[in-house]
Amino acid sequence: MHPNFSTLFIFLVLIIFIISIIDLAACDDDRHDPKYRNCSHRFECGGIRDVGYPFWGDGRADYCGGHVGYQLYCNRDNDQSAGIPEIVINSVRYQVLSMSGSSKSMSIARSDFMDDPCPANYNNSTLDASLFEYSAANNTVNLTLFYECDPWTSGPSSLKQFTCSTSSSSPTMNYFDIRDERIISTCRHKNMIAQVSKAGFDRLRSVPSILGQVLKDGFDVEYVVDVSKCKACVDSGGQCGFDSASQRPTCFCFNGPATSGPTCLTRPPTNKGTFSI
Ligand SMILES: *[C@@H]1O[C@H](CO)[C@@H](O)[C@H](O)[C@H]1NC(C)=O
Ligand SMILES: *[C@@H]1O[C@H](CO)[C@@H](O)[C@H](O)[C@H]1NC(C)=O
Ligand SMILES: *[C@@H]1O[C@H](CO)[C@@H](O)[C@H](O)[C@H]1NC(C)=O
Ligand SMILES: *[C@@H]1O[C@H](CO)[C@@H](O)[C@H](O)[C@H]1NC(C)=O
Ligand SMILES: *[C@@H]1O[C@H](CO)[C@@H](O)[C@H](O)[C@H]1NC(C)=O
Repeated sequence: MHPNFSTLFIFLVLIIFIISIIDLAACDDDRHDPKYRNCSHRFECGGIRDVGYPFWGDGRADYCGGHVGYQLYCNRDNDQSAGIPEIVINSVRYQVLSMSGSSKSMSIARSDFMDDPCPANYNNSTLDASLFEYSAANNTVNLTLFYECDPWTSGPSSLKQFTCSTSSSSPTMNYFDIRDERIISTCRHKNMIAQVSKAGFDRLRSVPSILGQVLKDGFDVEYVVDVSKCKACVDSGGQCGFDSASQRPTCFCFNGPATSGPTCLTRPPTNKGTFSI
C-alpha cells in the first residue's frame, strides 16, 4: 500500500515551507540591530518579571537603561535557582520585592536587614533623589535605630529595645524610637536611619517586637524618569535605551537607532518586542 503520490508531494512541500519559515524568522532576528535585540531582552529574576526601560542589568546592556543607577542585579548566590532581584542605591543594597511599571514604583527592603535588624555596616539608607523619590502617598517613615548603647533605664517610654540574633558579648542595648529621632549619647553607633512603610510603622508602635519583620517588609519608592518618549518609541516598534554619546534617551529600532525623533519609521517584520516597564 503506497501512499498516494500527491499526498506525499503536498506533505513534502509543507515540510519545506515550515522549515523555510523557521529559517526566515531566525534570519530576521539575526539581522536585527544588536542594540535593539539586546534591549528586547527583559529583566527576569525571582518574582520580578518582564522589566524593561529604564532598568538594565543581568542580560540587558547598560545602554538599555535610563541611567547607570537603574541597574538591577539577580543574586543567584546560595543556590537560589530563581534568584533574588536587587538594586544598589547610594552604595546600600536592597532587595526588590515588587515592581509596578504603570505607577513607576517599586517596593524595596534593605538586603542586610533580611536576616537580622543588625547589619554589618551601619550605613544610613538614603535615596538618590535624582533617580528615586519616596512614594508620593507620603507613606514612608524614617526610623532611627540606635545600636550598642549603654542600658538606658530611665529613657522615654517611646524608646523600645530590640536584640540582634548575633549577640555581641558587650552588655549593650539597641533601641529604636517610635515617636521621633532622639539623641542617645551613650551608643557606640549613635544612630542609623532606615525607612519603613507608614503602615509597618503604625504596627510597630503597638507591637515593638516586630521590628525585624517591618524592616523586611520594606517601603515604596518611585523612580523619577520621563517615560513619555519611551512610550512613543515602543508604540512605533522600537526598544528604549540611552545614547551615551549624546547623554540622552534614545530609541533602538530593528534596523538601527532611530535617526529622526524618538520613534521608528519602520516596524520589525516579526514583532517580538513586548513593552512593559
Ligand atoms: C546584552 O549586552 C550585554 C553587554 O554587552 C551582554 O552582557 C548580554 O549578554 C547581552 N544580552 C543579550 C540577551 O544578548
Ligand atoms: C555600606 O557602605 C559602604 C561604603 O559606603 C559599602 O562598601 C558597603 O557595601 C555598604 N554596606 C551595605 C550593607 O550596603
Ligand atoms: C506628609 O507628611 C507630613 C509629615 O507627617 C505631613 O505634614 C503632610 O501633611 C503629609 N502630606 C500629605 C500630602 O499627606
Ligand atoms: C527621611 O529622610 C530623608 C533624608 O534625610 C528625607 O529626604 C525625607 O524627607 C525623610 N522622610 C520623612 C517622611 O521624614
Ligand atoms: C546617619 O545619619 C544621621 C543623621 O544624619 C547621622 O547623625 C549619623 O551619624 C549617620 N550614621 C552613619 C553611620 O553615618
